[in-house]
Amino acid sequence: MEYQHNPVMLKQLISSLFNKNLNILSKNEKKIFVDGTFGRGGHSKELLKFISPNSKLFVFDRDPQAILEAKKLSLIDNRVHVIHACFSSMREELYNFGVLKNIDGIILDLGVSSPQLDQANRGFSFMRNGPLDMRMDNSCGMTIAKWLSSATLEEIYKVISKFGEERHAFKIAKKIVAVRQLHPINTTNELVSCISDVIKNNKPGKHPATKTFQALRIFINKELEELSNTLPTAIDILKPGGILAIISFHSLEDRIVKKFYNKVSNIDPIYKKIPISDINIPSPVAKKLKKITPDKDEIKLNPRSRSAILRILQINS
Ligand SMILES: C[S@@+](CC[C@H](N)C(=O)[O-])C[C@H]1O[C@@H](n2cnc3c(N)ncnc32)[C@H](O)[C@@H]1O
Repeated sequence: MEYQHNPVMLKQLISSLFNKNLNILSKNEKKIFVDGTFGRGGHSKELLKFISPNSKLFVFDRDPQAILEAKKLSLIDNRVHVIHACFSSMREELYNFGVLKNIDGIILDLGVSSPQLDQANRGFSFMRNGPLDMRMDNSCGMTIAKWLSSATLEEIYKVISKFGEERHAFKIAKKIVAVRQLHPINTTNELVSCISDVIKNNKPGKHPATKTFQALRIFINKELEELSNTLPTAIDILKPGGILAIISFHSLEDRIVKKFYNKVSNIDPIYKKIPISDINIPSPVAKKLKKITPDKDEIKLNPRSRSAILRILQINS
């Protein structure tokens, strides 16, 4: 079965990479772009329509299935270079291509793809019964089932509370620890029933397992560390005038992006405290461009886009 992913804010993201209207774009210039989160290539394929034959697009994903799809694309388009790695390693991975400091734009469309959520055997979804896996790169590392089998009550509580902002985190953690003494928690349904047993009156329309599943997924894939480590690298490897465009899907991610963008687009506050003349104060490395959210039509067509926020940053020339 073919699993699809609807790219979020497709046109807005692609035009932000050029910082100009796509209709007036010159398609002859050589450009170098990086898509750190290929998924099913929705954004990459759209971008390829606007870049010249001698341009390059480096695509990353940690998911082996996404990489298979990316390789299919690279067979029919020689501008595409596929790298199976976390986006946090983009500096090391791109070093040998001699493109560092010469990159025109980097895209990060964070979180999970629809195919990851839709395939029960990936264990990401509380709606589908499957093995409790949740690894984006399921070729290595520890599954969340394995972690839950040995983590302490306090560790489980902290993860659910910190990465899910779940107010029932302690009750859920206690239940998990009690249930795993009776039998291992190996499937998504088994985890869902632990949660449903302790959350009785959740908000209407919101599944009681939403926050816990989000928390465990973020934790086991180290998603926030990946993002925090990548932001300074991205700034450093883009060329002057280069664009960093990031779509986040929840407040934990967006907070990191927003704080970083504010930091690099403002004069370092340290200079307010030392007696130094204005001309000696280094200018900020970048400037914030737009913040964009999906319009009503997109949210109607693709409800998954409703919490998306696209933030764009440009390196100062
Ligand atoms: C929301 S999807 C991207 C969808 C893509 N823009 C499209 O249009 O098809 C996120 C993808 O990023 C990948 N991913 C998430 N975190 C990653 C990381 N730290 N390094 C590499 N890939 C990552 C996931 O495996 C997933 O395939």
